Amino acid sequence: MRIGVIGTGNMGGMLTTAFARGPGNQLYIHNRTRSKAEELADRTPNIRVLDSAQEVAQYAETIFICTKSHDGNSIVQAIGPALSSRQNVATTISTVKLAKWESYTPAFVAKVIPSIVQTALSGVILVNYSPKSSKARRDSFEQLLRSIAFPFVVDEHQVRTASDLTSCGPAFVSYMLTEWASVVDKIGNLDYAQAELLLTQTFLGMANLLKSGMTFSDILAKVTIPGGVTEAGLVSMHEQLPQLFYELHQATSKHVHAPVLNLTSGQG
Ligand SMILES: NC(=O)c1ccc[n+]([C@@H]2O[C@H](COP(=O)([O-])OP(=O)(O)OC[C@H]3O[C@@H](n4cnc5c(N)ncnc54)[C@H](OP(=O)(O)O)[C@@H]3O)[C@@H](O)[C@H]2O)c1
Repeated sequence: MRIGVIGTGNMGGMLTTAFARGPGNQLYIHNRTRSKAEELADRTPNIRVLDSAQEVAQYAETIFICTKSHDGNSIVQAIGPALSSRQNVATTISTVKLAKWESYTPAFVAKVIPSIVQTALSGVILVNYSPKSSKARRDSFEQLLRSIAFPFVVDEHQVRTASDLTSCGPAFVSYMLTEWASVVDKIGNLDYAQAELLLTQTFLGMANLLKSGMTFSDILAKVTIPGGVTEAGLVSMHEQLPQLFYELHQATSKHVHAPVLNLTSGQG
């Protein structure tokens, strides 16, 4: 498959690397600052760096536009009219109005919300379609996405909450686990590094159980003996966790950009 990526920052870079690992894929990429795209091509085979978005549109069957919102709208207006109805244009820009983009191009249009876990060719990639798009085109687009992740189709009103789980989720879970390790460190029986190691290995083991078909409920039932120590811990969690998650989803749904945490890098 000939895949184009315009804008090779966090999202575009990750999609480029993931798709480039797929057998038979050839990537055509373009970034405003060319050196960023060249770094990707130096590290990964099957990537060709091009000088313009127009060139990407000429070569690629499916084009991912992964810039910030303002840049993305100018790009689709510039390349859209020359695309054919056999091509696909997808974007990671969550604010895009698909009906608007459809008015710029005869190509099939979709929105995708990737997740950092696609770096490991796993996890969920959310997909949002315009109601006008045909089932045949959706199926073929999802076939492409399936090579790097599990595609899950969402309606526009579901995008925020679903993204909290799949795209922000790895950051939320990592934050919970680092806080847990910090508390263990403060209690004093294990230091932070030891707690982090134990949690990491336990989390990897849990992922394997989930892969083997166990559900969260199965794991809870297997580990929790009535009246036992796990149950005591769960009772204390039950008192606090539901409220925490209500507040989390409220915070993301009301989000306006204003960094408050001192984290080095992050999702969304
Ligand atoms: N980060 C996330 O977790 C996440 C999750 C879901 C959706 N999104 C959405 O995905 C989009 C991309 O996010 P991001 O975090 O990947 O942003 P980013 O790291 O800033 O990447 C954007 C890239 O687009 C390039 N660019 C800008 N204008 C261009 C143009 N006209 N032609 C070619 N390249 C151009 C930029 O080039 P320069 O190198 O010159 O700056 C930059 O490399 C955003 O709309 C964001 O809201 C992000």
